[in-house]
Amino acid sequence: SRIELGQRRLQSTPATAPATPPFAFAFDIDGVLLHVNEPIPGAAEALRHLHRHNIPFILLTNGGGRYEADRIADLQQRLGLDLHAHVQGSDCGGPLPVLSTANFVQSHTPFQELLDNAAGLDRKAGGAAAASLAGLRDQTILVTGSDASRIRIIAEKYGFKSVVTPADILAAYPAIYPFDPLLKSVYAATARPLPKPLLLEGGKLAAAATTPFAADSLDASKYLRIAAAFVFNDPRDWALDIQLLTDLLQARRGFLGTFDPASLSAQGTTPNDGARLFFSNSDLLWATTYHLPRFGQGAFSAATAGVWKQMVSPAQPPLLSPENGRATLLGKPHEATYLYAERKLTRYREALLKAHGGQAGAAAAAEPLKSVYMVGDNPESDIAGANQFSSTHGTDWCSVLVETGVYDPLLDSASPDYLRHRPRAIVRDVAAAVRWALQREG
Ligand code: G3P
Ligand code: MG
Repeated sequence: SRIELGQRRLQSTPATAPATPPFAFAFDIDGVLLHVNEPIPGAAEALRHLHRHNIPFILLTNGGGRYEADRIADLQQRLGLDLHAHVQGSDCGGPLPVLSTANFVQSHTPFQELLDNAAGLDRKAGGAAAASLAGLRDQTILVTGSDASRIRIIAEKYGFKSVVTPADILAAYPAIYPFDPLLKSVYAATARPLPKPLLLEGGKLAAAATTPFAADSLDASKYLRIAAAFVFNDPRDWALDIQLLTDLLQARRGFLGTFDPASLSAQGTTPNDGARLFFSNSDLLWATTYHLPRFGQGAFSAATAGVWKQMVSPAQPPLLSPENGRATLLGKPHEATYLYAERKLTRYREALLKAHGGQAGAAAAAEPLKSVYMVGDNPESDIAGANQFSSTHGTDWCSVLVETGVYDPLLDSASPDYLRHRPRAIVRDVAAAVRWALQREG
């Protein structure tokens, strides 16, 4: 049940920041710090308070669509955070900003792990790395999201060298989509020439694509082969994007324009034999300024999986299930994102303590991180993820649910089935969440 903490303000800062305790915070953004673009009262103060006290935190959001540094600059401005605020009284190191790329993870940030090892996100806890797969840095990838031309630039800044968008494909092969393109002007303005043609000749399947489907008849030096498709954030033109993702799922080894009957079979195509799909965020719903939650990227991936289900053998495992093997899901509540976030938080904590905590800080940095307070508004995402991760990993991710976003306390009290994932605490807002955690830590 909800914890009442009153409206007290957070304690003021001591002259010298204390040695840092072995806990940290992870904050969701939408519904916790912001409501779309509007700051939630008390959010900036809570972050500043933690920063002043050398208590490490990261922002862990399922949002995306902008380059990390740009999104941070935007958040600094919206939340009124001083870019150069730093701990007073620190005796070594330079100032670390309240927010930087070092303590920021958005839905697609972990994609960078795939540059040099396509299995890089399948790493399990305990340090055992998954078998290495050739990285995607030099392979052609398809990206989509709210603004694919902007997303292409993000992917290129990450280091991906051959990035195509739905606009590129549509401009080169308008027949691939039989309807009037919804975003015709956008597509025309942003399309770039494809690096290679599709495996088509005169509008028909090239000979190599029909018989005998021998792998060696498909030549990646001649035709466009897409190794992976990445959904960075919420696509706007679902019909075109679902068409292209489905084309890719049924293509032979990622050669868009070919058709592999095995892809529709009960077993489907093995993951390493076809293009892989990466969805960065499974949120079906998220909190916006409308009074009811709105569809998120999870609605798009569910729609893609629903269409695929209609095309394939009923015995094929659902597209989004691990058994299918073709799609990788990232973002909260998925383990890969929490693993990535914990690695990043650990590195950030060490840097923060060494920079601001003097000798005591350096000593504290050597102590392992014991708990992370995950403050979120979405039970299916923030809370479910923290609870699951805690039950299988060493660090305790303590879930704290706030009432400023997706979660609706009235529906919760009306129906015992409403809350499928129980948080450790339910509090009014982010400031109350920080107070609750600090009180608990003594
Ligand atoms: O698109 C953003 C949304 O799905 C959730 O963002 O910050 O609440 O994880 P956040
Ligand atoms: Mg949220």
